[in-house]
Amino acid sequence: MSAIFKNYARYPLTFVKGEGCRLTDDKGEIYFDFGSGISVVNLGHSNKAVTEAITKQAGTLIHTSNLYSIPVQERVADKLSRRSFGGDVFFCNSGMEANEAALKLARIYGNTKYEGKRLRVITLENSFHGRSFITLSATGQDKIKKGFEPVADFFTHVPANDFASFKSEAEKGDVVAFMLELVQGEGGLSMIDADYLEECADYCKANGILLIFDEIQTAFCRTGKFFAYEHYNIEPDIMTLAKGIANGVPMGAMLAKKEIAEYLSAGTHGTTFGGNFLACAAAEAVFDIMDADGFIERVESKAAYMREALINIFNGTDVTVVGRGMMLGIQVPGMQKEFISKSMENRLLVVPAGNDVVRLYAPLNISQDDLDTGLEKISKTASDLGLGG
Ligand SMILES: Cc1ncc(COP(=O)(O)O)c(C=O)c1O
Repeated sequence: MSAIFKNYARYPLTFVKGEGCRLTDDKGEIYFDFGSGISVVNLGHSNKAVTEAITKQAGTLIHTSNLYSIPVQERVADKLSRRSFGGDVFFCNSGMEANEAALKLARIYGNTKYEGKRLRVITLENSFHGRSFITLSATGQDKIKKGFEPVADFFTHVPANDFASFKSEAEKGDVVAFMLELVQGEGGLSMIDADYLEECADYCKANGILLIFDEIQTAFCRTGKFFAYEHYNIEPDIMTLAKGIANGVPMGAMLAKKEIAEYLSAGTHGTTFGGNFLACAAAEAVFDIMDADGFIERVESKAAYMREALINIFNGTDVTVVGRGMMLGIQVPGMQKEFISKSMENRLLVVPAGNDVVRLYAPLNISQDDLDTGLEKISKTASDLGLGG
């Protein structure tokens, strides 16, 4: 028994090396990683450019603190800002910290602009926003809160894609922000309808409610656009990022329109590690790869290929293909656990979501050969379980 907390139910696997979509375990067995560390290592394990950037930076300067200017942090902020909606960027170390920052920004905005009369935040049922006290309170899933009650009481969860429910809460006049994921990653890859988002965004704009997109799992090309909001042509006031931002180096970020960002004035918020030289060097390497010509187009065509192959594999069964772009999954009613362990036997790593979805998050730059091999493993798993194949 190790001295590690028992808060994770870990699989009995130990990996010692990674390259692209392959992970080698301590017995020399090779697994195909179609989880990408839960949409983190989106450019594959030991990505050459990212490794070089980290190595070079580590040999120069790792950390000075946010007491001083950090040129690589400024560069990454500029790149993210220009690639999105032109806001300012705050760097932190994880998704929950990015959401925590977004919710603090919403609070100080509400307290200042609306003299404390708007405190409530609307989020969606089945959402996931993190595990800190505030972000678990924001999360619309009871299982995440269980045992930690009482949680913060200024969140109201409404069903997704139901404008009437959103409006009846928003009309109460005390709402400062609406926060949502555009594809609910942990919740099972359900998607937000374009009409619904447009109605909500229009309502928020007309009524001074901040629109916050939690793009922690969806950003960095996972859905086939650099940011998932590009599918909708609707810009948020605030957006949160993490996971794929630095290909495995812990990092999070919050972007906000300049006129909102300014509410977090000097001394109101901060973090020791956020945006240090090392993390930003990794993030810059990731950004430059994903922003290069043709990257998104290649993701789109791989996503279409993978979706079609999955539809063929599960044709005539109860299994449905869910998700968007390479944020793909299969809904396997009643067989989520079996599918994951059978995949593992077939040396393929996949990740659960919700009650009956299996996420198939291949690296975005996976080679055609590796993608085909991964699909063969999915097909074999399906036929082993009598689910097509
Ligand atoms: C949409 C979303 N928001 C927030 C988080 C929390 O991020 P972290 O685990 O880095 O704190 C996650 C993590 O899965 C997520 O998927």
